[in-house]
Amino acid sequence: MSATLSTGTPDVQITETDCFIDGKWVPASSGKTFATVNPATEEEITQIAEGDADDVDAAAKAARHAFENGEWPKMDARDRGRLMYKLADRIESEIDALARLETLDNGKPIGDSRNVDLPLAIDCIRYYAGYADKIHGSTIPIRGNHLCYTRREPIGVAGQIIPWNFPLLMTAWKWGPALAAGCTIVMKPAEQTPLTCLRLAQLAKEVGFPDGVINVIPGFGPTAGAACVKHPLIDKIAFTGEHRTAQIITRDSADTLKRLTFELGGKSPNVIFADADMDAAAQGAYVGLFLNQGQCCCAGSRVFVESSKHDEFLDKLQKLASKRKVGDPFAADTEQGPQVDKDQFDKIMSYIDKGKSEGANCVTGGNRVGDKGYFIEPTVFTDVNDEMSIATDEIFGPVLSVLTFDDKEDMIRRANNTFYGLAAAVWTRDISIAHDFAARVRAGTVWVNCYDVFDAAAPFGGFKMSGYGRELGEEGLKAYTESKTVTVAL
Ligand code: NAI
Ligand code: MG
Repeated sequence: MSATLSTGTPDVQITETDCFIDGKWVPASSGKTFATVNPATEEEITQIAEGDADDVDAAAKAARHAFENGEWPKMDARDRGRLMYKLADRIESEIDALARLETLDNGKPIGDSRNVDLPLAIDCIRYYAGYADKIHGSTIPIRGNHLCYTRREPIGVAGQIIPWNFPLLMTAWKWGPALAAGCTIVMKPAEQTPLTCLRLAQLAKEVGFPDGVINVIPGFGPTAGAACVKHPLIDKIAFTGEHRTAQIITRDSADTLKRLTFELGGKSPNVIFADADMDAAAQGAYVGLFLNQGQCCCAGSRVFVESSKHDEFLDKLQKLASKRKVGDPFAADTEQGPQVDKDQFDKIMSYIDKGKSEGANCVTGGNRVGDKGYFIEPTVFTDVNDEMSIATDEIFGPVLSVLTFDDKEDMIRRANNTFYGLAAAVWTRDISIAHDFAARVRAGTVWVNCYDVFDAAAPFGGFKMSGYGRELGEEGLKAYTESKTVTVAL
């Protein structure tokens, strides 16, 4: 692995650091601020308004007012869609600056920000812009002389709480369906990475979104986040993050019985049969785990390889992992940047230690890179068994566990032996095995001979403790609507 750790001063303009409430930029009512940190240098980037319950209350009132009385819900659906297209165009016109802002705040390589996160975010907003005027109910032939039909109405004010791993893309995943449905928004970005979400709010203002439709309150989970969850004027919470936080949100939302959608973690099995194209499978295992510094909810962190091909597969995987270029996220050829913060860095390093002490074999990586910034070597463990903590817990870092199998039935049982169920993949040339696995694995997404293929039109979400509901596609849109049945006597 090669490492270049001197981070050049990037050309990044930061203009939005306050709360965005009812179309205006305002400091937190407490006057408090917090630092957002560059994870490549451990240095403060800037201070951000630290919103809490009072600011969330102001945002919820603004969003409620915009929903009940403003022009947004009355606007023709096609014109709502046109505004969303304008927002997507505006983001595209600033794509390089937004990519730099994302890389500065999150640490992901500039090539990923520019060529993965930003294009996917723009595509998502355009996809849902096209949906705005295609949301409709049905007519239903009930008994008697009646006209019965359903209407799909916006759910109201959507509270949206997102994590730090894909800050701008998660903003797009949340805003796209909410805006298309005609909802108004109170968003709480992650405390580690508020900058791009705040910038998008300014772009939305500039293209003409009415005041109060989008509100953003930066701050911490137990204060600003919990205030969204408990607020009586907010109808729904869409949350992405850790399952333990989702459990707290479920309890905190009980009094107001909010609609909840959750996109949580995973320990996704990536299964490689002996007949697979081994080059493609090794590449898929490599990308499926190391993408985004391993900070992906759907990371293929349990790689099951049919025993007869273990050595061949491992050789190919190790060649890829050991060549991965770790370093300055602003360098064009960097493939892996730092982990997002010290908490994540410490958590990952402790799992690497546990893997070693529990008897797994660390065959690649396993160490910090440099002594400044939260960089970790791409790490591969072999001789992993199902009970080791590196095989059961979500590590959320660049740590891949290789397990082996001999029997298909046993492998499927082991693949499903986790309380998560977000994603899975299978590599084989045998279509019967591929479809059998796809049908029997308990996961919301299954990739066959590929990994991490995302599209705004394809629903994404989890079985079991990986979540409730789906994001993206028509299902993601419906999660921002209520169905109303109207019956007319004729
Ligand atoms: P987290 O779930 O605590 O944070 C995600 C978001 O929820 C942030 O905006 C945070 O401020 C907010 N939040 C935290 N506590 C809250 C509360 N009581 N009420 C309302 N909102 C609250 O995740 P964290 O602490 O950043 O990461 C911990 C672990 O979670 C990671 O190591 C990883 O394993 C997992 N994770 C999974 C993600 C995924 O995409 N599925 C994303 C981020 C983390
Ligand atoms: Mg947390």
